[in-house]
Amino acid sequence: MTDAIGYELDGDIAILKAQNPPVNALGHAVRVGLVNGLERAERDGAKAVLIYGDGSTYFAGADIREFGQAPREPGLPEVCDRIEASPLLVVSAMHGTALGGGLELALSTHYRIAVPSAKVGLPEVLLGILPGAGGTQRLPRVAGVEAALDLITTGRHVRADEAMKLGIIDRIEAGEPREIGMAYVRDLLDANAPRRPVSEMPSPEPVDFDAVYDAVLKKGRGQISPATAVRAVQAATELPFEQGIARERELFMELMNTDQRLGLIHAFFSERAVGKLPELKGVETRPLNAIGVIGGGTMGAGIATAALLSGLSVTMLEMSPEAAEAAKGRISGNLQGALKRGKINREKFETLTEKALSLATDYAALKDADLVIEAVFEEMEVKKKVFTQLDAVCKPGAVLATNTSYLDVNEIAAVTSRPADVIGLHFFSPAHVMKLLEIVVADKTSPDVVATGFALGKRLRKISVRAGVCDGFIGNRILSTYRTCADHMILDGASPYQIDAALEAFGFAMGPFAVADLAGLDIGYAVRKRKRAEGLDPRARDSSYADKLCEDGHFGQKTGKGYYDYGAGPKARVPNPDVLPLIAAERAAQGITPREFSDEEIVRRYMASMVNEAAKVVGEGIARRPLDVDMTLLFGYGFPRYRGGPLKWADLEGLSDLLADIRSWAEEDPYFWQPAPLLEELVAEGRNFDDLNKEAAS
Ligand code: 3HC
Ligand code: NAI
Repeated sequence: MTDAIGYELDGDIAILKAQNPPVNALGHAVRVGLVNGLERAERDGAKAVLIYGDGSTYFAGADIREFGQAPREPGLPEVCDRIEASPLLVVSAMHGTALGGGLELALSTHYRIAVPSAKVGLPEVLLGILPGAGGTQRLPRVAGVEAALDLITTGRHVRADEAMKLGIIDRIEAGEPREIGMAYVRDLLDANAPRRPVSEMPSPEPVDFDAVYDAVLKKGRGQISPATAVRAVQAATELPFEQGIARERELFMELMNTDQRLGLIHAFFSERAVGKLPELKGVETRPLNAIGVIGGGTMGAGIATAALLSGLSVTMLEMSPEAAEAAKGRISGNLQGALKRGKINREKFETLTEKALSLATDYAALKDADLVIEAVFEEMEVKKKVFTQLDAVCKPGAVLATNTSYLDVNEIAAVTSRPADVIGLHFFSPAHVMKLLEIVVADKTSPDVVATGFALGKRLRKISVRAGVCDGFIGNRILSTYRTCADHMILDGASPYQIDAALEAFGFAMGPFAVADLAGLDIGYAVRKRKRAEGLDPRARDSSYADKLCEDGHFGQKTGKGYYDYGAGPKARVPNPDVLPLIAAERAAQGITPREFSDEEIVRRYMASMVNEAAKVVGEGIARRPLDVDMTLLFGYGFPRYRGGPLKWADLEGLSDLLADIRSWAEEDPYFWQPAPLLEELVAEGRNFDDLNKEAAS
């Protein structure tokens, strides 16, 4: 036996208890322990075996940290087959999350009982692979092809009651997994229940797999694992069980060797690592019960909504009673959405809007707030006035936060007598939906205020990323650079539509011009005007065609026109016919002869500019680790998760080739394509961004 599996004989029932915290992942020691335990039960003359998990969960899947390492026997498929083939009656008692290999193992046992709160699922496609321990062959036999395709291609977790309807679970019982499991095994033995190997069940009925494959591939925006999984399920309907398993293995190994798998695993571990900062270890957080939000426009209303939904009480301060009522209307509209989606019920809706939310126009209302987030207009003078007033009324120890997108948090903090309490909490629009929160740490921000920012992020279920102060912090600073790269390509001959299409084919949810239309073209216009007023470097290329669109009153979706015409609705994007002539006029005025761009060159330049700026952001310490940039782009900017993030993508592409491209483009535009010192350093040393992530973790 290994310590990872406990063994006990209770009468004629052997009990195998998984004890591999935190999630009972099916690593090597667990697999060995299961096989040994089964053999011992057979030797001990047991009639039945109960398998359950100690701690918070049944097996949550294969041990992801073993991926990419040399395989160690026994593999999980062998363990599952061994369990299913045992002459004893084998039963699983599930609690927590039986996921991936965990559910596959459960499907190899002959009966399954679960507590009501248990969830099951086959989320492998979300890691770039497919169920590789019989899940694509056993689940369709148990639940039918339609349900199996749904679970396997989406990776969604299914609650116990739904799983029971699907035939995945045989019984639901409240209690401790061991107790309910033992009672169930005794019932089965008393009833002389037969062993029930799923592999011996008849092949399920086929569906139109080609149509499903096409639909899943399209939905995946270039992600291949869900579509590949369709072919594995197809095999369950066409081949005998053993051959189906062989086909599953073949497809599993194909996916195991892809960059997409590497990207998705990187995303999995990075989203867990991003909030863990060594400097915050052991730092106490400040209280977080009542918060204030100043400014109830797009962002303030979204932030207030997120806070209310997480159980915080919110005071919304606006400029006038009318503006406060309008803010309440926006919050209530957001909460209506939550009500419609079943996230809250009507009673909760009433409580949130009528009791947990209060409106104010006088700063005195914020005197008891634990944390105040300002989301007023993006103007330094307005922000400074707000913080001066907050300094005057807020209780000692209150956290004072700004949601500014670009402005200098140090300058804002400096107007208060307590800069250590000031921090940037940069939410993304819509703030109650978007997962990213940049936590902007200013020079004097104290560690417990940073820790409180992370605690708020956790409470609001955000992915929080630490950022330093600079123009645009991590995300918007990098965005400005790759947007500029796109603008340069337009001046040189590409069209916004070709650029959007090329980047959407790369996997972005939306191309940069469609995004600009959605966010509002006035935002970029304001930034350009501010930067010009501050004085552009004479070497920087500038253009005015986008300004002209705004001057003509076209701000994107909200005015019905921007780069696209939205006359037929927000999803029906049709190129705005005014745009290409404006661009042509700009090129003519600048004396540029347009040239052809291939989609490949568009993606290469756009991504190289993103990586180069990201390397500067990491090199300057604005982001602590490459993975912080990756998570920012993934959760705030629609970067395709299956590519892991721009710096993971760069590692996989090869840093020296990228740097060579940047250097060659620097010959035509040395100002824009200044190579990041960190990128040069890594290439010179033969290292990559992942090495920096590993160093930071050690
Ligand atoms: N392997 C290795 N480590 C794992 C793991 C796994 N399958 N699942 C979770 N962990 C680790 C996490 O990295 C984290 O480590 P850390 O504390 O060092 O950061 C720790 O366990 C706790 O995880 P969470 O913070 O995510 O804990 P939660 O309680 O929020 O969530 C969970 C628990 C729902 C189980 C979630 O961790 C999860 O979704 N895990 C992945 C499940 C999964 O994808 N399983 C399929 C694996 S692939 C497979 O089985 C292949 C097979 O078909 C052959
Ligand atoms: P908005 O214009 O929709 O809302 C601003 C609100 O602030 C208005 O309701 C206004 O009445 C109120 N307001 C202005 N001055 C005030 C004052 N002195 N006291 C009280 N209320 C005041 O603006 P939006 O888009 O919500 O942006 C707010 C802040 O959030 C800005 O700093 C912006 O840069 C930032 N931000 C915006 C994002 C976006 O996508 N819109 C994304 C992330 C941050």
